[in-house]
Amino acid sequence: MAANYNAVGAAGSSPYGSGDPYYNESTGFITPQTAKKRTNNWVKIGVPVLIIVIIGAVVGGVLGSRSSSKSEGSKGSSSSGSKGDPAAASSVASAKLEIGRFATATNSEYLMPIYPSTTNTAAFTSPTFAKSALTWPKDPFQPSNPGPTKVRPERPRLIAPQYKWQTLPNLIKSDPYLQGWNATIFGNATQYYNLQPVKYFLDGDSGILDNAREVKMRIKAFAYTFLMTNDTKWVDRTWAELQNAGGPQFGHDDDKWNSKHFLDTAEFTAAFAIAYDWLYPQWSDAQKTSIRATMIKYGLQPGVEQFTTSAGWWKNKITGNWNCVCNSGLTLGSLAILGDDTSGIAEQLLGYTVPNALEGCAQATVDDGTWAETANYWYFGSTGHAEMSSALLTATGSHFGLLDVNSNFYKTGIYHMYASGPTSLFDYGDHGPNKFSATANSMILYGDQYNHPEFTLFQREQHDAAEPWSMFWYNPAVSGAFWDGAPLDHFFDNDLDQWASMRSSWTDGNALYVAVKAGKNDGLQTHNDLDVGDFVLDALGTRWAGELGSADYRSPNYFSSGAQDADRWKYYRKMTEGQNTILINKANQNVLAAPTVKHASSGTSQGSSTVLDIPKDSTAYWTADITSAYFGVSSVKRGVRLLNGRKQVLIQDEIASQQEVQWRMHTNATVSIADSGTSATLTIGDKKLEVALLSPPDGAKFTTSDAVRFLSDPTPPVADQPNPGVTVLIISLPAGTYNLQVLFNPQWSGSSASDFVTPPSVPLDNWSLDSHK
Ligand SMILES: *[C@@H]1O[C@H](CO)[C@@H](O)[C@H](O)[C@H]1NC(C)=O
Ligand SMILES: *[C@@H]1O[C@H](CO)[C@@H](O)[C@H](O)[C@H]1NC(C)=O
Ligand SMILES: *[C@@H]1O[C@H](CO)[C@@H](O)[C@H](O)[C@H]1NC(C)=O
Ligand SMILES: *[C@@H]1O[C@H](CO)[C@@H](O)[C@H](O)[C@H]1NC(C)=O
Ligand SMILES: *[C@@H]1O[C@H](CO)[C@@H](O)[C@H](O)[C@H]1NC(C)=O
Repeated sequence: MAANYNAVGAAGSSPYGSGDPYYNESTGFITPQTAKKRTNNWVKIGVPVLIIVIIGAVVGGVLGSRSSSKSEGSKGSSSSGSKGDPAAASSVASAKLEIGRFATATNSEYLMPIYPSTTNTAAFTSPTFAKSALTWPKDPFQPSNPGPTKVRPERPRLIAPQYKWQTLPNLIKSDPYLQGWNATIFGNATQYYNLQPVKYFLDGDSGILDNAREVKMRIKAFAYTFLMTNDTKWVDRTWAELQNAGGPQFGHDDDKWNSKHFLDTAEFTAAFAIAYDWLYPQWSDAQKTSIRATMIKYGLQPGVEQFTTSAGWWKNKITGNWNCVCNSGLTLGSLAILGDDTSGIAEQLLGYTVPNALEGCAQATVDDGTWAETANYWYFGSTGHAEMSSALLTATGSHFGLLDVNSNFYKTGIYHMYASGPTSLFDYGDHGPNKFSATANSMILYGDQYNHPEFTLFQREQHDAAEPWSMFWYNPAVSGAFWDGAPLDHFFDNDLDQWASMRSSWTDGNALYVAVKAGKNDGLQTHNDLDVGDFVLDALGTRWAGELGSADYRSPNYFSSGAQDADRWKYYRKMTEGQNTILINKANQNVLAAPTVKHASSGTSQGSSTVLDIPKDSTAYWTADITSAYFGVSSVKRGVRLLNGRKQVLIQDEIASQQEVQWRMHTNATVSIADSGTSATLTIGDKKLEVALLSPPDGAKFTTSDAVRFLSDPTPPVADQPNPGVTVLIISLPAGTYNLQVLFNPQWSGSSASDFVTPPSVPLDNWSLDSHK
């Protein structure tokens, strides 16, 4: 099934073709209800010119006080901005509404934002939090000596305090993002309203985690919609969901929330905590008693046991999503009932969770910002971290170090941005269960808390931004464009991960993106693959070299060991042969791999324009000595570099092996190999990628196979899942010494053969920024 995966920004042509190089206007804006009609007209008569006028107004009115901001249209160093000037504030508000939001591509599963094409450099300025009147007031709750059990006097105390609810309707009126998200949440709540309460389903080792997150997602939407309408039908619907998830037909009375898989327990506890706290005045005393009793019996009491017995393995400095999710759920539950329950369990748990998360969860980003599991697991972990930090901040006035005990934690926002390609994530390793209530909206909180407005600006465009947390984490004073000044490349060097992210644009859905990793094959909470050297490649709005993702989590011993002979490493999707890397002797890589990397970048950054003029010599490369990942070799090195102004990619492997060698890449494309055997055309939809083996060693030819195990592989406990539609592009060679140079030429629209370069052959050790000019 070489299905039609291309689509992101598909309405536009390539930046590298002739004629109008970017999207047509029809891919430009969507606007909130109030401005819809007018903007549709604008789109027809030319968006960019009008943007200049409007941005002039926004910049003049709001950014005037930022001396560091770009000067176009600004009123210099005036420090007044629009503060205290209702007329200016209202003109800023209407300007923001008229600009609106960017559209989301709905013609593919990627659901990526579509940025308008414009060379108008006044339109999108440096990311900043403007000194604006249009943001939250100061929190009236400012305890001088905060403690985890000393809570805000009024409800809600979790994440969305009263003063924010009071301000929100006004902010919604003046901010197109809040306006759009609010409408989506109402729509989602209405959709969930009409569904039956979530049905109990125990999914093997994954337990009832999907159930828990779905209940939490619904309760957030119901409670939000109630507080925005005062229509008690939302309270009744919430009660139905609570009664279901705490009732006799749900699970087993002795351990309803499946404390054996404590993530489930924690997420249910969080869901009940939100319902209890946000709808507090709506519940009768009997209902409150009942919610508390359910939460204590099935959530908080099992939580105490996790800390006081050997049950809670995740409490032992586990730097991953388990520590974040479990501590966060127990914290929300405890904060919710503090003062109402007299048993002392909430106080007891807060004494455990807060210090425990500082040692575990807060350390789950390593010093380069990479999440210590995988790019998908970042969603679960960072959501837990953000919820716990935000709940503590709102309920008690302090995050107790959760946001800053690890001085590198903020870099996790950089990690997420660079792990995001034009089509999708660099999704190495396990992908995790369904996300439901786990989103990337921690970026919105982190943007505000760490003063990194680009995190907020990046995430506010994403399709998962519309949910209740964003409404309260978003600082509407944010202004500018995340891409203005954003370097196109970033290298992550911690020994654990060692990876590179290189691209041709932040805003063109057709951009070239290559990400490649070395790193360790252990120490990743058993969510990794044996994948040193693995890469993904995006171009032309589609993914050409991709990942297979998780195997079935219910497969025996899937998580039980990461040792060399572990059953995990017998499943195709986790084995080295299931990765886009070098395979030696059809055998798995060494779990003790300790590669070394080098890299450089021309340092090209995107400017304020969404139209990039990339200099011919703009490049980046990353090389790795991955010898230690293999058995039976003298040396294996891999290098990846961008060529020809980021229009082409070279992957070079230098191998000296005493065993047979395979170069492997997994693709959804239809592969057609030329008679010579040394070049291939990959096709996905109407897009093409030419792949050529330069200076082929004797006998080196491309072949293909299905993405299935070798007959000689050790038998896994259960059969692999199929990988339908996936073809493996292979170069097979006997033992020997080789230099394999594979050149990737995406067929940009309007390009011809003469637009592509054939690079010189340069040993990896001699690569430099100038070596391929
Ligand atoms: C939130 O969205 C709903 C549904 O579209 C709408 O009725 C309501 O007016 C919105 N709230 C505000 C404050 O605009
Ligand atoms: C919420 O509504 C939006 C807009 O209709 C939709 O795209 C999205 O899939 C819904 N989310 C869920 C989880 O149903
Ligand atoms: C809902 O009720 C609260 C408390 O009485 C009030 O402050 C708020 O304005 C009401 N909201 C709406 C949308 O009617
Ligand atoms: C195939 O396409 C799916 C859907 O976009 C993607 O998740 C997967 O990673 C792709 N597989 C490969 C091998 O590119
Ligand atoms: C690589 O670099 C070495 C040391 O600088 C030099 O002696 C050699 O000629 C270079 N080789 C190539 C092919 O550029």
